[in-house]
Amino acid sequence: MKIQLYTLIAMLVALGLAILITKKHLFYPLSSSTNVLAKILEQRYSGYSFDPLKHVTHNQIISLIKAAQLTPSSYNEQPWNFIISDKTTNPEAYNITLSSLAEGNKKWAKDAQLLVVIATSIHSVATNEPNQWAQYDTGAAAFSMTIQATALGLMTHQMAGFDRSKITELLGLPKDVIPMSIMAIGYEDLARSKIQPRRRKPIGDNFFQGMWGITNSNWK
Ligand SMILES: Cc1cc2nc3c(=O)[nH]c(=O)nc-3n(C[C@H](O)[C@H](O)[C@H](O)COP(=O)(O)O)c2cc1C
Repeated sequence: MKIQLYTLIAMLVALGLAILITKKHLFYPLSSSTNVLAKILEQRYSGYSFDPLKHVTHNQIISLIKAAQLTPSSYNEQPWNFIISDKTTNPEAYNITLSSLAEGNKKWAKDAQLLVVIATSIHSVATNEPNQWAQYDTGAAAFSMTIQATALGLMTHQMAGFDRSKITELLGLPKDVIPMSIMAIGYEDLARSKIQPRRRKPIGDNFFQGMWGITNSNWK
């Protein structure tokens, strides 16, 4: 009886250690802050192992859309466009987007439930000139979607590796709408996930104080 108890405790400890080791990326401390948003930012990462069987619900899709919609933009022009295809409800559209991906990306992105083409409208209605901030605003909206996805327990992985002219033609994008990125969204298959160390440049490389190139050694 005693031996069985020791075996059980040893198994639980081993399981705990295995979870800690394999899911180390989830604990990567980007900040010492404990607020909810900091935790979500720490947890977000672009993994490669999507669960092919777990669907993203209608309500989750609405929640992702609303998060992107709330993003600020220059002149409030909201130049972003998200063309969402769901593998479960619209496999034909999903496969069209999938066909535009670079081969290396197709291999893992095919398991994601959603493929989202993110495109920017480069004509400013407010100034009747090219919108110089369209790409900036669209990237911000894409990021709002990624953090909302993380908060919902989903994983995102964006890709620049796709054929721009092919997707423009296949989806019928107007000429002043430029595809920027394709985002794969779905649940992570935790059994297949691999440790991915978060690689970031040192703070002093691109965070300056007051003047270009002036670093602050207290920013750690
Ligand atoms: C616009 C954009 C394009 C990207 N393109 C690809 C891609 O084609 N293939 C890929 O495997 N990862 C791609 N990534 C993922 C990045 O490599 C990843 O975000 C970066 O290494 C940081 O890792 P993290 O997202 O896990 O923090 C892209 C990310 C962004 C934002």
